[in-house]
Amino acid sequence: MSEVVSIYETNMLNIFRCEFEDGTVRLCTKNLSPGHNVYGERLIRYNKIEYREWNAFRSKLAGAIMKGLKESPLSVGSRVLYLGAASGTTVSHVSDIVEASGKVYAVEFSPRVVRELIMVAQRRPNVITILADARFPQRFRTLVEAVDVLYVDIAQPDQAEIASYNASLYLKKEGHLLLAIKARSIDVTKEPEEIYKREVEKLSSNGFDVRQVVNLDPYDKDHVMVLAKYEGK
Ligand SMILES: C[S@@+](CC[C@H](N)C(=O)[O-])C[C@H]1O[C@@H](n2cnc3c(N)ncnc32)[C@H](O)[C@@H]1O
Repeated sequence: MSEVVSIYETNMLNIFRCEFEDGTVRLCTKNLSPGHNVYGERLIRYNKIEYREWNAFRSKLAGAIMKGLKESPLSVGSRVLYLGAASGTTVSHVSDIVEASGKVYAVEFSPRVVRELIMVAQRRPNVITILADARFPQRFRTLVEAVDVLYVDIAQPDQAEIASYNASLYLKKEGHLLLAIKARSIDVTKEPEEIYKREVEKLSSNGFDVRQVVNLDPYDKDHVMVLAKYEGK
C-alpha cells in the first residue's frame, strides 16, 4: 500500500487532502475516534495526528468536494440534522468535521441499518441516533434543536418537499442545505437534467437560494449534490 507523503487542509475547514507516494490524492478527516474506522477506510498517522481516508465512491459529500463543491457549510461546533444516515459512513466524517463541540442528529428509518449506526455513535458522542421517518419531522421535535446545516440523502421521490418541511421546523435562517438528488429515484422516464432543474425550482419556491449544483459522476452516476442557503418562508 502506498505511503502518505503529505496532508494539508483544503479551503474547507477540517477537510484535508492526503497525497500518496504513487501520486494519488484522496480526501481525509481527522479521526474523532482514534484507532477505529467505520467502513473499512484506511487510518493514516501523520505528524502525530490520526486521519481517516474519505472515500468519494462511498460518500456523496466527498464526491461533491472532489467534483468542485466551492464551499462547505460545516464548521467546528455546527449543529447538523442529517436525514438518511444509513449505517453512518458520511455521518462519521461530518462528525469528524464538526468535532466534539458539534452535534449530528442522524435520522434513519430502517431498523436494520440503525443497529450499525448505533455502533458508530457509541464511539462518537456528537452523533445522536434517531430511528424515525424523515417525512414526519414533528415526531423528533423533542430530540432535535435548531440546526446550522440540513443534510438530506434519502433517495425518495418527494425529497425536496421533505427537505423543505424539515427546514421549516429546524433549519436556522441563513443556515445551509446539502441535498443529494438521485435522478432515478424521482422519475426513470425523464432525463436527469430535467429532474434536477425541477427539484431546484421546488427548493427556490420553498425559501432556498440555490448556490451550486454539483454533478457527482463518476462517483455516483445520475446524482447531483445541491448546496443552498435558507432564507426562510
Ligand atoms: C442513499 S442511503 C444514505 C447514505 C448515507 N447518507 C451515507 O452517505 O452514508 C439512503 C438512506 O435513507 C434512508 N431513508 C430513506 N427514506 C427515509 C425516510 N423517509 N426517513 C428516514 N430515512 C430514510 C434509507 O433507509 C437509506 O439508509
